[in-house]
Amino acid sequence: MNKFLYGIDFGTTNSALSIFDEEKKEIITTIIVPSLIYFPQDPATAAPLNYVIGEQAISAYLEDGMKGRFIKSIKQILSRSSFIETRIQNKRYNASDLVALILKDLKAKADEIIGYDCQKAVIGRPVFFDDDSTLKDTLAQTRLNKAAEIAGFTEVRFQFEPIGAAFAYEKTIKKKEKVLVADLGGGTTDFTYLALDPAQVGSKDRRNDMIATGGIYIGGDSLDSAFMWDKGTPHFGKNTLYEATPGKVLTVPISLFANICSWDQMNFFNGLRIKKDLQDYYYYSKNDRKFKNLLTLIDNNLGYSLFQAIEKTKIELSDQPVSRFAYSNMEIEIDDQISIDQYDAVIQKDIKKISVYLDEFMLKHEIKAEDIDSLFLTGGTSMVPAIKALFSERFPHIPVNSGDNFQSVAKGLAYSGYLFG
Ligand SMILES: Nc1ncnc2c1ncn2[C@@H]1O[C@H](COP(=O)(O)OP(=O)(O)OP(=O)(O)O)[C@@H](O)[C@H]1O
Ligand SMILES: [Mg+2]
Repeated sequence: MNKFLYGIDFGTTNSALSIFDEEKKEIITTIIVPSLIYFPQDPATAAPLNYVIGEQAISAYLEDGMKGRFIKSIKQILSRSSFIETRIQNKRYNASDLVALILKDLKAKADEIIGYDCQKAVIGRPVFFDDDSTLKDTLAQTRLNKAAEIAGFTEVRFQFEPIGAAFAYEKTIKKKEKVLVADLGGGTTDFTYLALDPAQVGSKDRRNDMIATGGIYIGGDSLDSAFMWDKGTPHFGKNTLYEATPGKVLTVPISLFANICSWDQMNFFNGLRIKKDLQDYYYYSKNDRKFKNLLTLIDNNLGYSLFQAIEKTKIELSDQPVSRFAYSNMEIEIDDQISIDQYDAVIQKDIKKISVYLDEFMLKHEIKAEDIDSLFLTGGTSMVPAIKALFSERFPHIPVNSGDNFQSVAKGLAYSGYLFG
């Protein structure tokens, strides 16, 4: 009766599960949920569970006035050895426990469709969970494996995410091709260069077809952080002057603003000491209006909603030349016009890093542009115009293909059943 296998792409921003029918050798459907967990302040509101996942996590969190614990980009804690556990509603959760909640949600939805408890899955992993540290990488994979076990999977194999993406692309080609795949997600950018052959689809061992894999810890979240730094923090009083000692005018510490550039770093401000410091700067800045926005942001947990506005601006700029960065909440009023040129300037450093990494990757694995027959770009961040331009300028004569940016990896993982062979 064990007829199905799941391909699971646990992503920084979105997680997807493809249901593969092993008899018919085809995918039945693919489910996607945003990788978000919300524990309401009053757990009863989430009954029968004590948490909410995905889209509902966002709506419940916003309806609750941004109280409780809202967890985003949870994948990034997998490799963080300093993260041991967190207490929520008087229970302890380690990294695997949290990740398991998302896997469980996907599994329950898929089991509902196929009508039985399927315990077999190919789970994706980025080429590097973190910047090239083997220890952290092993830790991350061990934690992910444990999460799969907690979620009820007993037969698990791992596959590199960009190889998953490549297999999804292989389904669409007619002849052999050497392909460079770039999967640009929320957290990481992964590359793989491999030989695809439609005649090989589903064959037992594909190891010899994989020529090179690599990756870098830059993705959509990095672009949003860069935007917050450049266009966001000035609205929150970066460069505010204060005078605690008469005659000695100083600028408030820049580190405060580095901390509001990644949404999860904002927890840093939960300490009492730092709250007192912020009040002092505010007082000695003679109640600077913009610095007050920083206090409002922190005291009211507005980080997530602010980053939603930043992401909206980015997404709009993927298909129009101008957008607005607009945010209006509790006396914080932002309404700036942002052109694509301005946006490109903001993300230029990250684009450069990806470009430099790509060169290193090709050099290291001795891949020449003329050895590449086609490019396959996938992941949400592949829609950013500067990213597209990076590839079209770097490889002007090579055709660029794309598939479903949010499903390719999960589908290709589901086509990786050979790993059980
Ligand atoms: N139209 C768009 N233009 C630009 N960026 C976009 C667009 N749509 C989504 N994104 C960005 O794509 C990212 C999510 O992409 P994706 O779902 O591929 O990532 P992920 O698989 O969750 O992450 P990772 O693979 O790094 O773990 C987010 O940063 C999101 O803001
Ligand atoms: Mg991904």
